[in-house]
Amino acid sequence: MDEIKSKNYTPSTFKKMKSEGKKICMITAYDYAMARCVQNSDIDLILVGDSLGMVVLGYENTLPVTMDDMVRHTAAVRRGAPNSFIIGDMPYMSYHLNLEQTKINAARLMVEGGANAVKLEGGSESRLEAISAILDCQIPVCAHIGLTPQSIHIFGGYKVQGKTPQAYERLIKQAVALEETGVFMLVLEGVPEALGKEVAKNLQIPVIGIGAGRYVDGQVLVNNDLLGFSDLIPKYVKTYASLDKVIVDALNHYCSEVREGIFPEEDNVYFPINEEKKDN
Ligand code: KIV
Repeated sequence: MDEIKSKNYTPSTFKKMKSEGKKICMITAYDYAMARCVQNSDIDLILVGDSLGMVVLGYENTLPVTMDDMVRHTAAVRRGAPNSFIIGDMPYMSYHLNLEQTKINAARLMVEGGANAVKLEGGSESRLEAISAILDCQIPVCAHIGLTPQSIHIFGGYKVQGKTPQAYERLIKQAVALEETGVFMLVLEGVPEALGKEVAKNLQIPVIGIGAGRYVDGQVLVNNDLLGFSDLIPKYVKTYASLDKVIVDALNHYCSEVREGIFPEEDNVYFPINEEKKDN
């Protein structure tokens, strides 16, 4: 890959992009290799999401992901994307217990992981307190409401949120309260398109949708879903490649060449034996 793209984004860049009507493109990444590709693409910012638990670590949901997992993978992404704006996700129970623990965990993502900001799920009173405590440490916060995967046991599965008039209103109120608390960005997941549109219209900060329709200020997808490198692709995803197939085809090609004696070729060998000389 050629030289590293320079990307000088800050939280105010994203607000400006919204005010200028420029759509924001966010994608997840979890390791050094993918972060290099993302850094060299036109993507605006990277989320090291706790979806890591499902697409990289193979868990059934995101709940088993730990702070140590998030710090290790955020640091790997930072090494691959030294100039990108990176949001580190706060895993389940890392911001629920008390404000001191919450601040320590957010700071770990910044100091050890090299993130530019952190993200946490929910918009209740206690989440607003957690967000204020993190902001007080000078750490920018991205909020995440709607179908928040850390709440699947309360929701009874991955179910679209905000469908009843009460739930619709509650999410709009939460979005406004989160903006007032000082988050610089809001991820809105798994809601009807009309709700996505209304939240984006009501807020000055950018609203990044994932399954929130077409009228939000930007989109985020799980990298593995977008690339067709995943076993479960939700309805809101469009796949732009079929990496599963590309990889299996390449592995099978390699196997057949090894078995037929085609690989390694002379070019792949150190000090190759010259067959003609050997025979003399
Ligand atoms: O963990 C994650 O990847 C996320 C996005 C899907 C928004 O939270």
